[in-house]
Amino acid sequence: MKPRTIIDRVRWMGAEDWDRRLFDSLIPLPDGTSYNSYLVQGSEQTVLIDTVDPTQAEVLLSQLEDVPRLDYVVAHHAEQDHSGSIPRVLAKYPRAKVVASPKCVTMLQDLLLIPPDKFLPVEDGQTLSLGDKTLEFIHTPWVHWPETMCTFLGQDKLLFSCDFFGSHIAGTDLYAEDEGRVYEAAKRYYAEIMMPFAPVIRQNLAKVKARSPRIIAPSHGPIYKRPEFILEAYEDWISGTPRNVAVIPFISMHGSTQVMVDRLVTDLAARGVAVHQFNLADTDIGKLAMSLVDAATIVLGTPTVHAGAHPQVLYAALLANALRPKAKWASIIGSFGWHSKAVEQISGLIPNLKVEVLAPVMAKGFPRQENFLELERLAREISERHRTLRP
Ligand code: FEO
Repeated sequence: MKPRTIIDRVRWMGAEDWDRRLFDSLIPLPDGTSYNSYLVQGSEQTVLIDTVDPTQAEVLLSQLEDVPRLDYVVAHHAEQDHSGSIPRVLAKYPRAKVVASPKCVTMLQDLLLIPPDKFLPVEDGQTLSLGDKTLEFIHTPWVHWPETMCTFLGQDKLLFSCDFFGSHIAGTDLYAEDEGRVYEAAKRYYAEIMMPFAPVIRQNLAKVKARSPRIIAPSHGPIYKRPEFILEAYEDWISGTPRNVAVIPFISMHGSTQVMVDRLVTDLAARGVAVHQFNLADTDIGKLAMSLVDAATIVLGTPTVHAGAHPQVLYAALLANALRPKAKWASIIGSFGWHSKAVEQISGLIPNLKVEVLAPVMAKGFPRQENFLELERLAREISERHRTLRP
């Protein structure tokens, strides 16, 4: 697409990656993604804010064809989907300096082999005059790497936030017009890469809100003309209090665990607990991650394979441990033929979950009445604990 004007002498540039279906060879991208870059032209200096994934460098360079001079490239974040085209931009504008946090400077030298004399490191709160426009750099570490920062264009109250507040959507909407769709994509994005850092994101959110931005321009997905929409969503997601939601990721090989999951879901629903159930044999892990944003309880369901849990369930346990959701309770249900170490194995994989573990329910073979009574006990314990939560 061609550059698009946001406000006077501030233009969107960048690339829509409609067909990308996986990020980091891990994260599903059902709606593709975009890499947003922004051109800010002051009366004396011109700045490009972030670049694009190196696979899309030609798109950005063609958008820069009518830009004869570039003084700075702001690198908010060293990850290559934003920084990867900086070497191509510097080749076109050899006098331009790369503006970045000190930590980002060293990371860009390591990741992209950019020479040290190309950088202008900036501290938290430092400003850069472009003539009649001034940029303020706000260090916002751990959204989601340690070097990340944002840029605030004070005269226009425009915040360039890079990954912070982003969403993986490729599209022609410059702005978040369909807020329902953007909310879903932004929540998925938060769940997959931001959730492990919720406590520090809380601090960064306060720094950003203190500037009262009128526009938030992230480097993935559409721009927010109504910043309160995404700021309020983040307030909710980083809140320490989960909702009345139980998440049940499970696998069943011969039906025993499936029957146990069905019974537990029925018992929980009858007691007023909302349940999100995921059959890990065919599940979108982004959807699972989104459910973990709100979940108060996680129950993993597993059959026994070679005396341990099913590998797909182990993967789900590792994922939950890495994402550090705010769940308060956890348990394990499942089945075994003659012997199982599944409970001990899963328990050892989730040290980051600060949860009370409710007594597991493991059936020998197909579940019997005694197992169903235990599942009823588990549902009762979960629902009693959830009564203390918001709806
Ligand atoms: Fe969009 Fe962390 O890169």
